[in-house]
Amino acid sequence: MQGRALRVAVLGCGVVGTQVVRLLTQLRSDLASRVGTPLELVGVAVRDLDSARAGVDRALLTTDAETLVENADIVIEVMGGIEPARSLLLRAIASGASVVTANKALLAQDGPTLYAAADAAGVDLYFEAAVAGAIPLVRPVRESLAGDRILRILGIVNGTTNYVLDQMATEGLDLDLAVKQAQELGYAEADPTADIEGYDAAAKAAILASLAFHTRVPLSSVYREGITAITADDVAWAARTGHVVKLLAIAEQTDAGVSVRVHPSLVPVGHPLAGVHGAFNAVFVEAEAAGELMFYGRGAGGAPTASAVLGDVVSVARHRVLGGRGPVESRYADLPLLAASAAVTRYQVRLDVADRPGVLAQVAAVVAAHGVSIDAVRQAPQLVPAETPAAHALAHLIITTHAATDAALSATVAAIAELDSVTRVVSVLRVEGA
Ligand SMILES: NC(=O)c1ccc[n+]([C@@H]2O[C@H](COP(=O)([O-])OP(=O)(O)OC[C@H]3O[C@@H](n4cnc5c(N)ncnc54)[C@H](OP(=O)(O)O)[C@@H]3O)[C@@H](O)[C@H]2O)c1
Repeated sequence: MQGRALRVAVLGCGVVGTQVVRLLTQLRSDLASRVGTPLELVGVAVRDLDSARAGVDRALLTTDAETLVENADIVIEVMGGIEPARSLLLRAIASGASVVTANKALLAQDGPTLYAAADAAGVDLYFEAAVAGAIPLVRPVRESLAGDRILRILGIVNGTTNYVLDQMATEGLDLDLAVKQAQELGYAEADPTADIEGYDAAAKAAILASLAFHTRVPLSSVYREGITAITADDVAWAARTGHVVKLLAIAEQTDAGVSVRVHPSLVPVGHPLAGVHGAFNAVFVEAEAAGELMFYGRGAGGAPTASAVLGDVVSVARHRVLGGRGPVESRYADLPLLAASAAVTRYQVRLDVADRPGVLAQVAAVVAAHGVSIDAVRQAPQLVPAETPAAHALAHLIITTHAATDAALSATVAAIAELDSVTRVVSVLRVEGA
């Protein structure tokens, strides 16, 4: 065993923190062998010293996080939120500690400040657990694929919304019931807004896109749309047209720049992401030389997230033993960030139209006039009450387009809605992964 033990401080002892402490304690001897020196847990910062924390030695608990971080070689931040997490990490870095965080919200909002501070102090900033929990993704993107060119990332990076959409598809539940069920099972918070409105996925998308494209991608440049507008009807029609609805985080590089967005998408049933069920996460990466890669696993939960945290701890600890540092911020490419309206994708538009000859041609003409090309049209009878006179009968029209810009599609849909023969634009969903 070389040198002195490395002092490790943990900020936060909740869902993730208790598991981090458990692994640090239970794997103590293995970790010492893997690092080359023991990791000594010197303290765990919490708000409430009296809360029950299974398996955590109470003597380690403190409410004095400031002093704790100044006397550590490695600081693990699993408290969440922006402040005081941000100030504590900066204080830790200024004191010469390497830091490991699972805090996607903080990284997406203020990553550059943390990177700059870590750079100035010559210490490591690691954050594998901030994106997709246990799934190794940050390391593959910033290290394993550093010799390639990443073209596109399509990810299911929020387990709550995947569980909700999966229950809607497999059990026929409506959104509210599926969210309620997710809450009962502990997959969703009491206030599910961050998940179902796509904020959590947007933060992860910003982090991943920054790494993949060597360009700073602020959270404000990520287009975000949650799943609250998705109906049981959307999910049922998706199945009828050979798709599943997934909330995707998408980051892609085109000739014009980088587009990063989070929105519900129709994914063809044959695509690997379509088979991701329950609260699992999966990320599909397309790289120029490597081709298609898929990363799959548990994106949240105490133990899975702690696994990713501990992997980072071993990496930064090895650097302290052997010298050297992990990757620093890479933003040399500085690519333009594209507005959501410039994103190019396929769409599926569902309409209620009058069930009479010529309607299809009328709609197709409007679509063509806006420069959007139709890939397929399907007409299905609409269920209407039996007493409805034939003249008022409706048909359901499902139009799938070829790739079009968001701006062109929006203009097309607005013009279609004006047609006398169109009763209602029922839904407009993007089709990804086709
Ligand atoms: N949960 C997951 O599955 C998961 C997955 C990936 C990433 N993450 C990230 O991991 C982080 C932690 O998540 P979590 O689910 O473990 O949160 P959590 O269960 O709410 O735990 C937060 C912990 O931080 C402590 N804390 C909060 N504010 C504090 C303050 N001002 N001073 C001292 N201690 C403070 C709390 O202390 P008290 O216990 O005394 O209140 C609690 O122990 C977040 O950034 C989250 O985004 C979580």
